[in-house]
Amino acid sequence: MYTTMIPMMVQAKKDKKGVPAFNIHALEVVPMMARTAEGKGSPVILQVSVSTAKYIGFQLLADIVREVAEPMEIPVALHLDHASSLDDIEAALAGGFSSVMYDGSRLPLDENIQNTKRAVALARAANASIEAELGIVGRGKIIEAYPYTDPADAKEFVAETGVDALAVGIGTHHGQYKAKTEIRLDILDQIHQAVDIPLVLHGGTGVKEEDVKTCVRLGMLKLNFGTELNVSWVNRAKRVFAEAEPDDSLRELMLLCNAAMAETIARKIDLVRDV
Ligand code: 13P
Repeated sequence: MYTTMIPMMVQAKKDKKGVPAFNIHALEVVPMMARTAEGKGSPVILQVSVSTAKYIGFQLLADIVREVAEPMEIPVALHLDHASSLDDIEAALAGGFSSVMYDGSRLPLDENIQNTKRAVALARAANASIEAELGIVGRGKIIEAYPYTDPADAKEFVAETGVDALAVGIGTHHGQYKAKTEIRLDILDQIHQAVDIPLVLHGGTGVKEEDVKTCVRLGMLKLNFGTELNVSWVNRAKRVFAEAEPDDSLRELMLLCNAAMAETIARKIDLVRDV
């Protein structure tokens, strides 16, 4: 079924399990992602960057995810990842996304709160769920010092905005697939004690597997994985396409690449569900 992430989070909290969120990089992988989760009996959040959403088209993507998800017993959400513009959030909601993220993490706290409140109002009007971010998740392959989330700020942020889930900075970095990050589980523990809503792990690719499990235990109920999926598809594609003849079926070749991504997805589902 096609849902927001709210019922998944409620159930995940009861079950003490995480909900995996996978970044869609191209339309071709969407049915495979949902079917892999269905095969595991796991809820799943399919999420997309603003640039990928614009490349595919907000409504086309939402129509396809809804069509794939509706007959399934598992809950499936379509979530806009890291939108820093309210216009993009409006476009996603108008297109039929069931969930959005407003990312004002680079703004001063007050401004982040004010903008997030506007995004919450938009999401509520569309019966969608909403995530926000406080403290910064790094980007790129170079490890730099980014501000960690202050637990007291997190408490104020959640009380003021009423978001459904909060992404926090504990030292993770997007796109880091060659090495693993030393994350600050002590800070996560303090944030978990300060706020009562699900927390979100960004940059899941660069987090050690044992740390991912600890993150779930410390309240991170949405766990994002993107780069590792892309890497598994492209690595398989390099081999498959190098060996292919030009008149080989493109569909068959892509299915082989999708199978590599499906294996990574299945592993990540096990990781966050068997805590
Ligand atoms: P990775 O690409 O590092 O796994 O991060 C995914 C993510 O957090 C998307 O917001």
